Amino acid sequence: TSVVLERLEQKKKEALLGGGQHRIDAQHKKGKLTARERIEVLLDEGSFVEWDQLVEHDCIDWGMDKTHFAGDGVVTGTGTVNGRQVFLFSQDFTVFGGSLSAAYASKICKIMDHAEMVGAPLLGLNDSGGARIQEGVASLGGYGDIFLRNVLLSGVVPQISLIMGPCAGGAVYSPAITDFTFMVKGTSHMFITGPDVVKQVTNETVTQEELGGSAAHCSTSGCAAGACENDVHLLLQTRRLLDFLPSNNQEKSPVRPCSDPAEREIPALDNIVPNSPISPYDIKHIVEFLVDEGDFFEIMPDYAKNIVVGFARMNGETVGIVGNQPLVAAGCLDINASVKGARFVRFCDSFNIPLIILEDVPGFLPGTQQEHGGIIKHGAKLLYALAEATVPKLTVITRKAYGGAYVVMNSKHIRADVNYAWPSSEIAVMGSKGAVAIICRGDPDLAKREEEYIDTFANPFPTAKKGFVDDVIMPRDTRKRLCADLKWLRNKSQKNPWKKHGNIPL
Ligand code: COA
Repeated sequence: TSVVLERLEQKKKEALLGGGQHRIDAQHKKGKLTARERIEVLLDEGSFVEWDQLVEHDCIDWGMDKTHFAGDGVVTGTGTVNGRQVFLFSQDFTVFGGSLSAAYASKICKIMDHAEMVGAPLLGLNDSGGARIQEGVASLGGYGDIFLRNVLLSGVVPQISLIMGPCAGGAVYSPAITDFTFMVKGTSHMFITGPDVVKQVTNETVTQEELGGSAAHCSTSGCAAGACENDVHLLLQTRRLLDFLPSNNQEKSPVRPCSDPAEREIPALDNIVPNSPISPYDIKHIVEFLVDEGDFFEIMPDYAKNIVVGFARMNGETVGIVGNQPLVAAGCLDINASVKGARFVRFCDSFNIPLIILEDVPGFLPGTQQEHGGIIKHGAKLLYALAEATVPKLTVITRKAYGGAYVVMNSKHIRADVNYAWPSSEIAVMGSKGAVAIICRGDPDLAKREEEYIDTFANPFPTAKKGFVDDVIMPRDTRKRLCADLKWLRNKSQKNPWKKHGNIPL
């Protein structure tokens, strides 16, 4: 027995060293933590239980039979974040560049299957050179096994991908399917093909950073939900995000004891919307005033800034906030904003998170670029997502609610539970200038007609008269009202007709 124990001890010691001290040093030199150090920061102290530390690959080609590392390049297991169970894998770049073998993929699949069975979030820490080249198709099959599970877990448990190094080729399709992908500035990259292949195929010269760095994905492609300064920052933010989320689709988010009074009046909101309908203001200020302790976890802060989405709490209960942002493109809905909003809404609906929609929208963005880009089908995504959602849905119209966008932004007509208008609301088919130009064509006194139009529609009363808003409220009372509504809406139960799945316009 003592020989076995010695061998075990030796193997475990080796496993902890990954690809060896010189590769760990190289990892640190790049400003990156190792796979195991990352787990230490991410999980509650001492909570990590590792699985499959002794797994090795079984490849015999290309000299691989002579090179083995205990664990084979990925650290997997389970632990807790603020006391709540999570499952994770952490790719170890120091072992074969973190490249994925069949054995490595099996380790990941094992924890994914248990995340599903136990109903706990799955966290993937990505830092890998992709498919292990020596293994050929066995490695590609391993990706397939993971992708399938990412799809099956979608909407069942939250899945979060952290990109903390390279993530190239087919490997990107696991993060792409998960709910949120976050990157580290400067040290993480995602692309289907790297700069060399790009050069060969398109003759384009581009750096890794330009092609697939955090700026590219957080502000241009929309493939990432956000980026952090370094590994530690990202891991701590992930802990913060997890606190907002339920562990699975059968549960609600944990309710946090709240010291911010639900009844808090906010006099500053009474004057926050400018008198002029074309003056901008920052919707994030309203969010910060409304939510518990002003704590807002924004998702995709640098992409499609004309819509703001993120998590916050109201009286301790997690809510998803979706707000038009008058500071950017006057808060118009365009293709990117619609897609961003729709995916967020669907996440919230999957995981029982009530939605608060803050509406100030002059319409969908006009123009050939938008029309030819498919604003019709992309805008429909947001409509579809909000209409199908059965979680509590609350809307506050702060100013404009024009045209189709009025309907889309969680109107009563698509089953919103509670709709409020502030006195500054203007709810109409379109703005006054456009409207009189059409219905009063040829009228000698267009200015007067416009005034009449504004008189009719630049207030919430025609809408309130029809019951399309439930009340016109003083802005200062908004938090109080929403908190009270969320309380009774906790028992909301609504079902959509049976279907295999819907056919959301893609
Ligand atoms: N398969 C097997 N081994 C791999 C690998 C892969 N896909 N990617 C990297 N490695 C190994 C390297 O051989 C090297 O091994 P060593 O430490 O024994 O010398 C180690 O991982 C580190 O790689 P290296 O290239 O030295 O690191 P780098 O930081 O300079 O570059 C990458 C990192 C990811 C940009 C580069 O390794 C790369 O382009 N890999 C291939 C990416 C790819 O196209 N994968 C297929 C996608 S499906």
